[in-house]
Amino acid sequence: MTNSPPDSLLTAHDLRKAYGPTHALDGAEFSIHPGEVVAIMGPSGSGKSTLLHCLAGIVPPDSGSITYNGRELTKMSDAQRSALRRSEFGFVFQFGQLVPELTCVENVALPLRLNGSSRKDALRTALGWMERLEVDDLKAKRPGEVSGGQGQRVAVARALVTGPRLLFADEPTGALDSSNGERVMGLLTEAARATNAAVVLVTHETHVAAYSDREIVVRDGKSRDMERSV
Ligand SMILES: Nc1ncnc2c1ncn2[C@@H]1O[C@H](COP(=O)(O)OP(=O)(O)O)[C@@H](O)[C@H]1O
Ligand SMILES: [Mg+2]
Repeated sequence: MTNSPPDSLLTAHDLRKAYGPTHALDGAEFSIHPGEVVAIMGPSGSGKSTLLHCLAGIVPPDSGSITYNGRELTKMSDAQRSALRRSEFGFVFQFGQLVPELTCVENVALPLRLNGSSRKDALRTALGWMERLEVDDLKAKRPGEVSGGQGQRVAVARALVTGPRLLFADEPTGALDSSNGERVMGLLTEAARATNAAVVLVTHETHVAAYSDREIVVRDGKSRDMERSV
């Protein structure tokens, strides 16, 4: 049994992860409700990305539990975890990680193709998401031909195209200037809220965290909830 609250989407308890002598996670706690936007904050090297990778089932913790929708991630097989990632999770990283050989709309359509959609259906749904992220005019361009901010909006469209219940974003605006960062965050949170996707947002910037409902601060691999002063 776990002590996860019944209405939580994802809960982690006492996560520990060491890389040699470095305790990247040292008893981190986390929980998020359906549709909630939670920012994970903290200085560089504090364990934010490690926490995100553990929560998303990408990196196994050394110990501790992670429960998604009543199922314990740490007890699933690798195949079950990747199926869960493909069907329920979306990912946005600091650098879009778009496939350079594909056009932008083909990039957005890719997760649907991998899940078995026909090319025609996948491209149509992808274009709808590109309109939502205001990048549909870039559909025929390749990632190398668009700006950083445009590429991140394409990456957000790709992350949301499968209708994930949980979006993981690790410093999604970290490589952008502040006006492009604001635009990406505005569109990302608007699209997530419209589809009731919860968002785990890693950032070290307070103006980015301001888009969240709640903030968690990680320091030396330990996490705690922050009270908002506004
Ligand atoms: N794959 C890895 N191998 C070795 N050390 C790592 C690895 N990933 C993270 N670390 C170390 O763990 C600590 C936390 O890293 P990270 O989670 O990336 O922090 P943050 O995202 O907050 O900058 C750092 O000291 C980092 O150097
Ligand atoms: Mg990081």
